[in-house]
Amino acid sequence: MKIDVEKLMEEARAAAQGAYAPYSKFRVGAALAMGDGTVVRGINVENRSFGLSNCAERTAIFTTLTAGNKDIRAIAVAGPDSWEPLPPCGACRQVMSEFCPAETPVFYDDGKGGYVTSSVGKLYPANSLMDLSKKQR
Ligand code: THU
Repeated sequence: MKIDVEKLMEEARAAAQGAYAPYSKFRVGAALAMGDGTVVRGINVENRSFGLSNCAERTAIFTTLTAGNKDIRAIAVAGPDSWEPLPPCGACRQVMSEFCPAETPVFYDDGKGGYVTSSVGKLYPANSLMDLSKKQR
């Protein structure tokens, strides 16, 4: 499946405009390219209890799971308020590794108007948790 990276990054940038980030004022948007050609967006959703904030990447993944579609083929992350590259946080990397094969591409803002190309496997090289669904019972 051919991914139009520019278009996916534009989707992530557009999503970021709707971020709920009144505390950090740091808006983030994510866009998932799905196997059926659709795009699923996510935003960061903060809370006055800061630890409850949810990143844009996880919002997008949870949204598509809720819709019953797990077939994520690529992930884009945009942070229009970022002045540095914006790789996903550790929690998001682990959630990505739960649902996406290692070769799934991840594109994130480079902080200069472009993007960095990575993958779920590069961002989360050693799967630190056993796959408990494979446990023999
Ligand atoms: N954030 C994301 O949504 N994704 C990232 O990859 C990095 C950080 C959010 C969390 C918080 O709402 C704000 O950005 C500042 O950390």
